[in-house]
Amino acid sequence: GKVAVLMGGDSAEREVSIMSGTGVLNALKSQGVDAYAFDPHDRDLSELKRDGYARCFIALHGRYGEDGTVQGALELLRLPYTGSGVMASSIAMDKIMTKRIWRFEGLPTPDWRIVTSADETREAFAALGSPMIVKPAREGSTIGLTKVESVEQCEAAYALAAGCDPEVLCEEFIDGDETTCPVLGEGAGAEALPVIRIVAPQGNYDYQNKYFTDVTQYHCPSGLPQDEEAEIQRLVVQAFRTLGCRGWARADVMIRAADRKPFLLEINTSPGMTGHSLVPMSARAAGISYEQLCLWLVTQASL
Ligand code: DAL
Ligand code: MG
Repeated sequence: GKVAVLMGGDSAEREVSIMSGTGVLNALKSQGVDAYAFDPHDRDLSELKRDGYARCFIALHGRYGEDGTVQGALELLRLPYTGSGVMASSIAMDKIMTKRIWRFEGLPTPDWRIVTSADETREAFAALGSPMIVKPAREGSTIGLTKVESVEQCEAAYALAAGCDPEVLCEEFIDGDETTCPVLGEGAGAEALPVIRIVAPQGNYDYQNKYFTDVTQYHCPSGLPQDEEAEIQRLVVQAFRTLGCRGWARADVMIRAADRKPFLLEINTSPGMTGHSLVPMSARAAGISYEQLCLWLVTQASL
């Protein structure tokens, strides 16, 4: 039947979502799938039913797309969709809720404080040390994030994050290797793909360096020792299963230089599928083409 590729939407990551969705749409069409773009920004999701769609590929990122709201609407419409269900999507969108669960389950994640003012941000800086990451709880693509290296930066960092989301967290900075690792599947069948090691200029893997420059280096194979690669893969599968994720996701992991200990930063339940994105890169290293990945995901779509 007809497949709707949901893309665009209303979040700060709209631009990224359009790049992801365009890639997915072209890939599905090239595989003979009867696929169409659908932007919930200017259309009502109930039109999906009226227009005879059989399933949806969610290529939306961020609020109203990755956070369980669209997933809930599709449940009500009884339209199978790619990726995690309502609860896992909604928890994974929230970095604070995610970290609480991981910590409760004994999975390593950097120490953090929840802050509600510039003053509390300065207190967090005193407690967590320098540098410190300040970021909105529910945002993506590094939007609203500041690496704070002096107490003077706290006020602006808080204001920037709070402008994206009323919930703001301060996180201990882990100095070391930046890595990311996709997971495919569900439950006991969840499996990690190869790890990617990211080397951005001055460690600045920000919005520009994620999507618009060519200065970031991606290593896949990661070049990490085999036991470290295996440890990251084991960790991201646990991170995925603990939150009840389904279909696919990509977890971001820092490896502390001092002792090579891995720390989970977050998990993205609707990972980027742009020309610069990481899940397609890792899949390719595992012998899975972009087209095969999209086709597999859409076949796995469920309620
Ligand atoms: N939030 C972006 C799309 C990602 O994680 O790939
Ligand atoms: Mg993210």
